[in-house]
Amino acid sequence: MTAVVTGGASGIGEACVRRLAAEGHSVAILDMGVERGNDVVRDLTEAGHSAHMFACDVSDCSKMESLAEQIESELGPVEILIPAAGILENSGSVLDMDVEAHDRLWQVNYHGSLHTARAFGRTMMGRGRGSIVFIGSTNSFAPFPLPAYSPSKFAILRLMQMLAIEFGRKGVRVNGVAPTYTLTPALKARIESGERDLEVIKKSGAIDIVVEPRHVADAVHFLCSDQAAAITGVMLPVDAGWMAATLYRSYAGGVPWSDT
Ligand SMILES: NC(=O)c1ccc[n+]([C@@H]2O[C@H](COP(=O)([O-])OP(=O)(O)OC[C@H]3O[C@@H](n4cnc5c(N)ncnc54)[C@H](O)[C@@H]3O)[C@@H](O)[C@H]2O)c1
Repeated sequence: MTAVVTGGASGIGEACVRRLAAEGHSVAILDMGVERGNDVVRDLTEAGHSAHMFACDVSDCSKMESLAEQIESELGPVEILIPAAGILENSGSVLDMDVEAHDRLWQVNYHGSLHTARAFGRTMMGRGRGSIVFIGSTNSFAPFPLPAYSPSKFAILRLMQMLAIEFGRKGVRVNGVAPTYTLTPALKARIESGERDLEVIKKSGAIDIVVEPRHVADAVHFLCSDQAAAITGVMLPVDAGWMAATLYRSYAGGVPWSDT
């Protein structure tokens, strides 16, 4: 079975690629990071898996359409699709943000996910089989001071729900995962530059786990598997209890718990 992962050369996408390859899927990495993608492919091929790299910018709608055709003809029917390519953002306000950077982030995070789902989803629907898992975020459910990123992840939640309905009767399930801070190269770079605080991250969940890409990949794999045959239209938090803990801790009547 062929699985396509955009952003599969690094971080959460790479972890999904490795997890799906380990399950026996033939994997296609679609990424701008050609060198890193080729390294992942080499690694997997040497371990006996089937892996392929395709260079692309997910914000290029027509390129995504032509890649979908190419991959279907070269690798066979695509049954799993993970639009994971995305860029992070540093804190800022709506009034002060750089509008060009805002537009580029939307082109990649939202439009890239949309182009990918349309390009591959059409054929999946025609065949009546497949599973798509979007990468949302805790930002899909709550506002953060990330003026481009936060709304883009909310939009991905809504897109996921709409496609779950449009594709559902044609045999394609559509879900998402909503990770909290996840220790990917993108997040590590922001921790190193002082844009994120690892100590705050460590204390933010309900359990003592700093989420790693493999935790997200496990959830993605579950949603793609037959074990999730009755699940569609769901954005599954992979947040170590972040959402519950954050609301709990903000209770104005006080928190009867000293180490939360
Ligand atoms: N790291 C986190 O804390 C976190 C939390 C929640 C959600 N996410 C989401 O997970 C996804 C992956 O993020 P990550 O932290 O693994 O980042 P990452 O930088 O480690 O990996 C992102 C990959 O996407 C690729 N990419 C970026 N723009 C692209 C484009 N226009 N076309 C093709 N490929 C492109 C990059 O080359 C890279 O390989 C993103 O959607 C991000 O929003 C991350």
